[in-house]
Amino acid sequence: MAQKIDGKAAAARVKEELALQVCKLRELGVTPGLAVIMVGDNPASAVYVRNKEKAAQQVGIQSKMIHLPEQTTQAQLLALIEELNRDAGIHGILVQLPLPDHFDERAVLLAISPNKDVDAFHPQNVGHIMIGDYGFLPCTPAGVMELIHTAGISPRGKHCVVVGRSNIVGKPMAMLLLHEDATVTICHSKTADLPSVTRQADMLVSAVGRAKFITADMVKPGAVVIDVGMNRDENGKLCGDVDAASVEPVAGYLTPVPGGVGPMTVAMLMRNTVFSARRQLENRN
Ligand code: GUN
Repeated sequence: MAQKIDGKAAAARVKEELALQVCKLRELGVTPGLAVIMVGDNPASAVYVRNKEKAAQQVGIQSKMIHLPEQTTQAQLLALIEELNRDAGIHGILVQLPLPDHFDERAVLLAISPNKDVDAFHPQNVGHIMIGDYGFLPCTPAGVMELIHTAGISPRGKHCVVVGRSNIVGKPMAMLLLHEDATVTICHSKTADLPSVTRQADMLVSAVGRAKFITADMVKPGAVVIDVGMNRDENGKLCGDVDAASVEPVAGYLTPVPGGVGPMTVAMLMRNTVFSARRQLENRN
């Protein structure tokens, strides 16, 4: 039976440690500030944004939640980002994705100052990640790394298979694993005979966004299975990409949904925001 890796508990520990760092920063006259922009009324995004606001409060980060109407124009959003780029009290800027269809998402992400890009989505920060020169860490992949470290698992020498090639998760996940000496395979919707590849994985990371997509026949016995999915099943219940009921008896480790990767993603966002505030302070001195 797979051992559960408790992301909620690990995230709580990270946030406690960050709260101490925030206290020290406040003594030096700096309160880390995070601006979170959400456009429109995507219900899943609303939940994510609320979780970020709650975590910011726990850590002592000043959060500025900006909810814009669906009909906001690209120019209006860019003007707001420019204003936040200039605001010395804001150390992190995050635009919740997906944006409504009329936005040019790439241009929006490019407008965020790389120094405040706490999601690490700006091409400049993506480039830093590629060469292993980390400043801002990509939140979900960094959360996965932190989770496996807390469980005492090292990717070194392991065959890690990442299912999903998004810019947010799949690609940066592969890089972080590679930098810790894993042998990495990235799979996606066009991969031929996916189960034959995933069955080779010592560690399987699924980030496809499809409920119960990873079944027991796709998992090598004893494998570490990391579930990045956040989906709804046929009854509307929250579930991951992994069919936990069938995979649990096969895997060595499994992250639950909810309570696995999700809370770690948010904790890493807080870590990036505190890092940004500290870096700004150091550059001022
Ligand atoms: N939408 C889903 N995941 C994310 C994330 O990590 N950051 C942002 N900004 N939007 C998201």
